[in-house]
Amino acid sequence: MTSELPPLDEQISIADLVSNPYPIYRRLRAETPVLRVKSVGRTMLTKATDTRYVKENAQLFSSNDPNTPMRRAFRAHTLMRKDGEEHRRERMAMAPAFGAKVIQEHWIPAYREIASAYLDRLPVGEEVDLFAALSAPYAARGLAILLGTDEATDEEMQRWSQHLIDGAGNFGWADAPFVNSDKANDEMDALFDRLVEKHKADPNPSALSVMVNADDPIERSQIYANIKIAIGGGINEPRDALCTILYGLLTNPDQLEEVRRNDDWKLAFEEGVRWVAPIQVSSRLVMEDTEIRGYHIPKGDTVMTIQASACRDEDLFEDGENYNAYRPPQSHQAFGNGPHFCQGTHVARRALADVMLPMIFERFPNIRLTDPQKVVWSGFGFRGPINFPVILG
Ligand code: HEM
Repeated sequence: MTSELPPLDEQISIADLVSNPYPIYRRLRAETPVLRVKSVGRTMLTKATDTRYVKENAQLFSSNDPNTPMRRAFRAHTLMRKDGEEHRRERMAMAPAFGAKVIQEHWIPAYREIASAYLDRLPVGEEVDLFAALSAPYAARGLAILLGTDEATDEEMQRWSQHLIDGAGNFGWADAPFVNSDKANDEMDALFDRLVEKHKADPNPSALSVMVNADDPIERSQIYANIKIAIGGGINEPRDALCTILYGLLTNPDQLEEVRRNDDWKLAFEEGVRWVAPIQVSSRLVMEDTEIRGYHIPKGDTVMTIQASACRDEDLFEDGENYNAYRPPQSHQAFGNGPHFCQGTHVARRALADVMLPMIFERFPNIRLTDPQKVVWSGFGFRGPINFPVILG
């Protein structure tokens, strides 16, 4: 086995990655696809074969990385950081809420009502920020219904989600983010305690309800932990995906016209999450000394799979830097791979492609960006526009 470590980079800064990581990833794919990046403290993998390989080999590359602040932020060990049977058991506990039939019969009708009501609130003919006025609250409400936490307001769902994310990303272990995540945890625990009784008395197919009413339920602490991971990881992605897809369509009017004519909203959706993956990176802990592309990857190292880069890999996608809803079909990695493949894939796809996207363009056929240059993109772990100024008409 080789003893040569991957090259070490001391130039790439977190600020560059947050601002626009794509030129960096493009260079890394061409020059150094396995690279230790000092500022991130991880070995970055930017090629699609490598990111897939790591995620599909959970015994060698564990999700249980104890060196992250995630456990502290959630005050719990969530399913996202577990492996093997332990992970499978907890994931299966939530699974009934994500089933195709439940989505079709329960969530889609509810999402149509929410979408319609939230579109009704928007002002016509003047500038409005769709990120704040539509994407974020629609994602929050959809998730609250799916999880069975619908007593929480949109504002609470968004705040809890953000504080959990900030805590989980608090690699400097500063106090302030944990003060916020602790407060969010206290508020969520109090709400869940109340809701458990309600769901026991009146069951429904939501995640919290199916978990507390199961014949052989998982521990209450894990039920709460996994509802929290879904809150932390189920708002940003559909929110960011919606603005990303709208940006792709509104800045490519030919494609928009074709999508509208053929109702190709699913293509528009899939291309949006490929183009700018809402969850850009994941981390895995190396369990045994191993090799990737001929480099020594030591036990205890943390590799970072950059699915944002895999989704633009030239080996799979021609002209991958651009949005093209009509590119040749090719599977992407925006929802991950292997045992931790996104549990919310189908519900997110349907909430946007079947409900929100066609409804926006039906209501506002003349919707336009006030100025594409005004849209600000941001994020290294999660990425998307952080504003979306449009005029509806
Ligand atoms: C466009 C929307 C979405 C995208 C792109 C997305 C992406 C992802 C990705 C990449 C992962 C894997 C992380 C890893 O490998 O470490 C993941 C996991 C997960 N996602 Fe999503 N997600 C989306 C929407 C949702 C929604 C709406 C939910 C609803 C609750 C959700 C729930 C989850 C859960 C529970 C996991 C963890 C699964 C496990 O560890 O077994 N996601 N998601």
